[in-house]
Amino acid sequence: MNPNTQTRQVLVLHGPNLNMLGVREPEVYGRTGLAEINAHMKWLGEQRGLAVHAFQSNHEGAIVDQIQSAIGKTDGLIINPAAYTHTSIAIRDALGMLSIPMIEVHLSNIHKREKFRHHSLMAGVVTGQIVGLGVNGYYLALSALADMLGAAAAP
Ligand code: DQA
Repeated sequence: MNPNTQTRQVLVLHGPNLNMLGVREPEVYGRTGLAEINAHMKWLGEQRGLAVHAFQSNHEGAIVDQIQSAIGKTDGLIINPAAYTHTSIAIRDALGMLSIPMIEVHLSNIHKREKFRHHSLMAGVVTGQIVGLGVNGYYLALSALADMLGAAAAP
């Protein structure tokens, strides 16, 4: 099959408190809300032949459930595990079951902040990380995934 004609499925997972983007510490996380980020990712995905599905939860187990249900159904994954980045072996283990490209995104530069944010438990299982570029991090991650999945060229 021509790789440019097949729609790839991309799952975007947002961890706790990211539903409050735009309101939550805007000087750290910016003023763009999650609905706007997701809508823009869906639009960008359409340009590249990617179907983007977004999910946010404040609950660790709900994120693990989403990752498990992505097995065999999703071609690429973008995740901002938020605070679970630094604590969740359960989310890391779930990601470890997937053998698809996975990009970890953080809006802020976690390495410039408090020491407890410097370590990511996800780092050892994801394909790559983007930190500190604000909402552009999500959009760049989607573009990188599209390239990795051999999706349609950017218009
Ligand atoms: C974050 C960084 C985390 O340390 C923090 O707990 C978040 C957001 C980011 O996108 O910069 O909730 O993942």
